[in-house]
Amino acid sequence: MTVTGELGHSREAAVRLDQSDPLSKLRDSFFIPVDDAGNQLLYFCGNSLGLQPKGAADHVMEVMEEWARRAVNGHQHGRAPWYPYHELFRETGARLVGARPGEVVMMNSLTVNLHMLLTSFYRPEGRRRKILMESPAFPSDSYCLQSHVKARGLDHHEVIVQCGPRDGEQCLRTEDIISTIEAHGDELATILLGGVNFLTGQSLDLQAITEAGHRAGAMVGFDLAHAAGNVVMHLHDWDVDFGAWCSYKYLNASPGAIAGAYVHERHGSNRDLPRLAGWWGNDPDTRFRMHLESEFVPVQSADAWQCSNPPILAMAPLRASLELFDGTGMEALRERSLRLTGYLRAMLESRPGRRYQIITPETDADHGCQLSIVVDGDATEAFATIEAAGVVADFRPPNVIRVAPTPMYNTFEECWRLAMLMGDRFGTPDA
Ligand SMILES: Cc1ncc(COP(=O)(O)O)c(C=O)c1O
Repeated sequence: MTVTGELGHSREAAVRLDQSDPLSKLRDSFFIPVDDAGNQLLYFCGNSLGLQPKGAADHVMEVMEEWARRAVNGHQHGRAPWYPYHELFRETGARLVGARPGEVVMMNSLTVNLHMLLTSFYRPEGRRRKILMESPAFPSDSYCLQSHVKARGLDHHEVIVQCGPRDGEQCLRTEDIISTIEAHGDELATILLGGVNFLTGQSLDLQAITEAGHRAGAMVGFDLAHAAGNVVMHLHDWDVDFGAWCSYKYLNASPGAIAGAYVHERHGSNRDLPRLAGWWGNDPDTRFRMHLESEFVPVQSADAWQCSNPPILAMAPLRASLELFDGTGMEALRERSLRLTGYLRAMLESRPGRRYQIITPETDADHGCQLSIVVDGDATEAFATIEAAGVVADFRPPNVIRVAPTPMYNTFEECWRLAMLMGDRFGTPDA
């Protein structure tokens, strides 16, 4: 999406874009990080750690106050009792990813949730033992899958199939993913792919992949770390079996924040699924009968995958974050995101003699807010140069700089400044 056309490439044009967008005001709901001299940094790192919502501290303090005042009675009484605290996210969490209430639960961390879900959704049997994942994949996903394969007594070199970009290309093609699924057909037990790739920022066609996976008879799940709060999803309608994400990136819910998990309701209502069980996944009506109930009776929703009673302090900031997402709506945010990222791309690509290229796909459906930039020459030094100029972004070896203009708090004017800086440092002004 290009928004520079009729408005030109000036700073004033960028400021006008900010002034004319009603969602620009969302930035006021966040603390913007500053350097040692108190100057605001150019923060483009929401793909790694989102900024602190100003409302987060109130929710945390509320828990601290209730704990001080009520101690154990805070589980049942007070402003937001802790026993049903996770249910505060039942509706907002579902809306965030296009699920039905009861299909989403906030718990644990991302990799832990992938483990919990794979216990249920990787069930090798007979010929059907293979797992499809992407390349490059986030290392935690690889380790997680390898360990599941090993735990079932199988060899991951034989069982894990990877689908990567074609030679000379950076991103995956949907047709290649689908033909890989078809090629492994009845040997494929589970598909686990990153919904938005951590390195390239490519957004996959989750619906087409899920359909192809189901045609092959496989379970289909996604690591949505870079998709949640970034792109619009309809996990229920797309019939996705399972998914998990972290909340510290685009969801701005604090470092290592409580993560999310999605389970389609047809599995949530299946009490016979194998899973790792704990008392918090048990039917709440009998949970506190303790030793009087020796058999685990899973609650018939995604809540059944919870094991332990949740860390309330870690959940509190997520309330502030989801209030903002829910108050705005993913569709409206995504619309702004496409304009913001489209603007940054256009500005970066307009810099004369530029010595970098954007590897994130350009078509709207194929990307989220992140742009991944490969710089010619020494990328480590290139990154250090923009960091020294006040940019907070991140670098993934050997040569990818990731910048994420997030629609919640980044501005067009910040994108303009980043593009000018990149052009200045990695372009030829008179080319
Ligand atoms: C795509 C992806 N998967 C998995 C992880 C691991 O997350 P966690 O440390 O919360 O388990 C990350 C972390 O950034 C990630 O980006």
